[in-house]
Amino acid sequence: MTHQASEINHSTSTGHNLGSSTYLDKHYQVAQFEYEATLRSAGLQPGWHVLDAGCGGGAFLPLMSEIVGASGKISAIDLAPEHINAIGQSLAEKSLACPVETRVGSLVSLPYENDQFDAVWSANVTQYLTDEELTRTLAEFVRVVRPGGIVAVKDVDISAWQFQPLSPTLMWRLIEACQGNGHVSGAMRGTHLPTWLREAGLKVIKRQTTLVERWSPLQPLEQSYVADNLKFLSHMAADLDLRPKDIATWHAIGEAPEQLINHSDFCYREMYILAVGQVPS
Ligand SMILES: C[S@@+](CC[C@H](N)C(=O)[O-])C[C@H]1O[C@@H](n2cnc3c(N)ncnc32)[C@H](O)[C@@H]1O
Repeated sequence: MTHQASEINHSTSTGHNLGSSTYLDKHYQVAQFEYEATLRSAGLQPGWHVLDAGCGGGAFLPLMSEIVGASGKISAIDLAPEHINAIGQSLAEKSLACPVETRVGSLVSLPYENDQFDAVWSANVTQYLTDEELTRTLAEFVRVVRPGGIVAVKDVDISAWQFQPLSPTLMWRLIEACQGNGHVSGAMRGTHLPTWLREAGLKVIKRQTTLVERWSPLQPLEQSYVADNLKFLSHMAADLDLRPKDIATWHAIGEAPEQLINHSDFCYREMYILAVGQVPS
């Protein structure tokens, strides 16, 4: 991948698009209100040992540490070493409300003991996993969480990703043309997460959909985040088998996303699901 492509795709050193720390920080700040409400509603309890599985740059760690408190503990794992290094540096400068230990590793084969945690929290990660990897990952979550503990998985469902007044059908055709792109298929799975948890042997205790919606006029950070997404989609569209008119439209959007974002009735929408399962006692 060229330097320019990795910037437009915001990829990690391990090749996951929309996973760089700059993109993740922006995303978290834009959706902070909704994201933090979702974490608070997941059911984590004071004193618990929680695994943040696919922690990225650690955006959820400060609030998570407040929820589990000084008697709790967090372990955080991610595949991308740059994320784990950055969290280590930030913890060296400012400690959180509970002890946090970090590790580089893969969710598909977790380096932890059976029943070691009271809960797993995994946000925006399952979209990157193939069906086979997700099956193995959920089995790992069930293995490392004690009976009665919880597995909370949050992820996007791009079937409702909208940049109105852009026609949603333009987006649907792009998604349709992406058949075979594992990340896009994974990002369509959000609504099915409860089924995945049930099939992994968990008792589903929560299913919750959240819509992050931002109407014009957008704040500067929101504008920058939405522009990043539009440039990403435009770059992706250039290599897809789309009708010429769609290619031209995506090209124009990528060249000047602000023209769309500054529309007086612009509305950005992204939808995600929180599914929480309990490990059988
Ligand atoms: C979109 S980011 C989400 C990060 C964080 N949870 C958040 O919501 O801000 C996805 C993260 O999943 C990590 N990841 C992808 N596949 C992984 C795997 N198999 N094992 C561990 N981490 C993985 C990537 O490195 C990236 O940091």
